[in-house]
Amino acid sequence: MLGVLGGCSLLLSVLFLFLLYLIYTVVNMAYVRSLYNGIPSPPLDNFWYGHQVTMVAAKKDNTFLDVFGAWTKEYGSSIMVFASFRNILFTVDPNMFKVVTSDLNSFSKLDDLPNRSLFGQRIAGWNSVLTGGGHNWAIKRKVMSKFFAKANTSETFELCKPLIQNYVRSNLAGKVGKGQVIELHNEFSTIFSAYPAAVGLSGFDDPDTIGRNVSKILEMIPKQLGGKFSLTKLLFAVGKDKSETVDMVIEMRKRLKALTREKMQEIHSSDSAANHSDLLGLLIQANESCDFERDLLDEYVVDDILTIYLVMDNMVKQLASLFIFLESEQEVYRKMAREIRDFTLTDSSSLSQLRYTEQVLLESLRMAPALLRGTRLLKTPDETPSRIGPYNLASGTQIHFSQYLIHHNEQTWRDPKKFDPERWSNGFQPEPYTYMPFLAGPRGCLGKHFAMMTMKLTLVSILQKFELIPKLNKEKRPTIDQGMAVMRIRNNVDYELIPLPHPA
Ligand code: HEM
Repeated sequence: MLGVLGGCSLLLSVLFLFLLYLIYTVVNMAYVRSLYNGIPSPPLDNFWYGHQVTMVAAKKDNTFLDVFGAWTKEYGSSIMVFASFRNILFTVDPNMFKVVTSDLNSFSKLDDLPNRSLFGQRIAGWNSVLTGGGHNWAIKRKVMSKFFAKANTSETFELCKPLIQNYVRSNLAGKVGKGQVIELHNEFSTIFSAYPAAVGLSGFDDPDTIGRNVSKILEMIPKQLGGKFSLTKLLFAVGKDKSETVDMVIEMRKRLKALTREKMQEIHSSDSAANHSDLLGLLIQANESCDFERDLLDEYVVDDILTIYLVMDNMVKQLASLFIFLESEQEVYRKMAREIRDFTLTDSSSLSQLRYTEQVLLESLRMAPALLRGTRLLKTPDETPSRIGPYNLASGTQIHFSQYLIHHNEQTWRDPKKFDPERWSNGFQPEPYTYMPFLAGPRGCLGKHFAMMTMKLTLVSILQKFELIPKLNKEKRPTIDQGMAVMRIRNNVDYELIPLPHPA
């Protein structure tokens, strides 16, 4: 009898808790939505899931950005998107871009998520210059800027030039010929994996091993998720103890830590700072100036080294996607190849003669920027709503923006779907906040000059030696995955490389 009564009261308690949860959910949803009254929003899929069902389906069909593009066209340049409990202001409004990218006090990276839950944080760590914020971020950014500043391009150029030229001579040249097809994404991945070693950051005997591992991880994670992205699944995929990805990250961190410790000892045992202005030396000095626990300093330096590996991957995507566009733009390819073959590479400043090549790169950064979209979190000190542009937004609102969509806005860009480098001729400058492949403001890309220099250097080194003939698979064409914030390319970017009879 007692047992039956106990069972009933347990059941009643469970039902009661469930009812409370339901009431809480309904009230909370109604409250949350009332907060954003007045901000346009597409019709909800249903009360419970908000717009989640449409978003999940769009990711599956690879139409995620198209859906957001259509929404912003129909309902307004800033719209509220409700996905379960997340309140997202999605914007393609240049004025909002300006506010979000310049107001560091109100907008931060997504720091309310569990530590290292964002993909970048998994690899680069919470306190790296890419993912961190506040006082420590400011110190790191300042110190790293010295190395990647425009004024330093000539020095970084001298470090990178031998690497890429050796790669083309010894690695690529051995693979080409006899109609063999080369997968360009893979080749660019190998080149840029080795770049951190060129600037002094490899703990590996074979400089590109570690970088290749980073690229492999980047490629592998979406596959592990079955092509679908969700934060919970991502945590699961990366968090499995014995997964290959985790093993790789652990091994990389171990080796880089040893390298860091060695360098730290060298710095501390020497009186002069003269030899420590290389990138690793700067990263160590930056982290030592932050208020971190001393015994974790080497971990934090490793976070920043891995950040450099991560950002190198942006150049891989950028160049690989360019060659997808060039398949159908053979006139553009020929004009760029002619310019490059008539050009003599001397120092970094000679690269500025490559006007048309620069236009091609600017256009590829417009058509498909390596970061297709971005996110910030609104946080007010007293948690009260804040006036952002024309709207009152609750503290905790996520602001999502898409560089890709703003680059395809018909009101700003003539014929935006056309790959047209000519639009950049005669020194054309886009309106502010309508072209942001490197974002803008104090958290804009630190490496944009380095990126432009190295992408030109790569094109010069390859096109002066080879003719590139597209061999893209018609059934499995390479396409840009619209679902991820960082560009991913589905399928191979296959080209045949034919050695030129008299290479420059
Ligand atoms: C085609 C190449 C590249 C593109 C399109 C690109 C684009 C971007 C974008 C859009 C951001 C802002 C991300 C955000 O806050 O949401 C960013 C940040 C950053 N980029 Fe790049 N990037 C490229 C290459 C590089 C390179 C070569 C470096 C080398 C150092 C670099 C270093 C960084 C760093 C350190 C940040 C974080 C800055 C901060 O938060 O203060 N990037 N990049």
